[in-house]
Amino acid sequence: MILSESDFLHYGSRLIRIESPVSEKFLENKTAKQDIFEIIPFLPSNFVDLLFLDPPYNLDKNFNAVSFKALDSSQYLNWLDSWLLPLLRVLKRSASVYICGDWRSASAIQTFAERHLKIRNRITWEREKGRGAQKNWKNCSEDIWFCTVSNDYYFDPDSVKLKRRVVAPYKKDGVPKDWEEDESGGGFRLTSPSNLWTDLTVPFWAMPENTFHPTQKPEKLLAKIILASSRPNDFVFDPFLGSGTCSVVAKKLGRRFFGVELDHSFACLAEKRIEAADADKSIQGYSDGIFWDRNARPSRIKAHPHLNR
Ligand SMILES: C[S@@+](CC[C@H](N)C(=O)[O-])C[C@H]1O[C@@H](n2cnc3c(N)ncnc32)[C@H](O)[C@@H]1O
Repeated sequence: MILSESDFLHYGSRLIRIESPVSEKFLENKTAKQDIFEIIPFLPSNFVDLLFLDPPYNLDKNFNAVSFKALDSSQYLNWLDSWLLPLLRVLKRSASVYICGDWRSASAIQTFAERHLKIRNRITWEREKGRGAQKNWKNCSEDIWFCTVSNDYYFDPDSVKLKRRVVAPYKKDGVPKDWEEDESGGGFRLTSPSNLWTDLTVPFWAMPENTFHPTQKPEKLLAKIILASSRPNDFVFDPFLGSGTCSVVAKKLGRRFFGVELDHSFACLAEKRIEAADADKSIQGYSDGIFWDRNARPSRIKAHPHLNR
């Protein structure tokens, strides 16, 4: 997806700015083009059910309006403290918080979460794109820390089951044991969601969800988090919205949402994707209430080889 000049005008006019205290209703289904640091004091308290955090990682990265410079771990922790501590006020007592990071950001994220939240798990996902290195292992994974505010939280594992191909389909008396036969004759099993996600594809040029944002997350990744950790109509907040993935998926899944993005072109892009979600609610790799393993859906792969990788 790209932006034309008229898109900038059209979607730019929908972006909001927050300069005084606002209500939950005011924020509902909107995108603020602003620095999260400016907004925090004006947000209401106790309104967020799910906070998704995908801030700049602890590495040198240019995001158009913002350039992030790698810090040492204690400085990155200070940076997290500077916005995430005051932001905790927006969370309901039953809220969940997911924090994304790479291995360099991990110790600061863990320290923050141990001090101020309850850590439930750390998800590792395989990020297939990655540069090879001559004197190191290629970076091919990222983490997402799953935390909650209290012990009273919502989690629905049944909504995020994964349909995997059975490697050795065993039959007892001619009947499949713990697996199903697909229309193509293949064997599949519904498996419980684990903290190791190898079924994601980082958006690339041939995928409809692909944009020009440099670190766009897959919609499928957000779908897992939103389905497992929020109910329909719950409030999902992403203060580093980027290309809008979190709000787009929240909308597709019937949740209310609010996002903040500092860069104007990314914020316009997010609005364009949010509007497109009215007409197309599909999420690559998720259909009929089931997540499909990468390369696991034969009929779709034949029809759309680029969609279901
Ligand atoms: C890792 S990216 C998020 C990508 C996003 N999850 C997606 O799927 O497109 C982080 C985003 O935070 C934005 N950002 C950085 N500092 C910010 C700030 N102080 N306030 C608001 N947004 C900020 C950057 O412009 C960037 O788009």
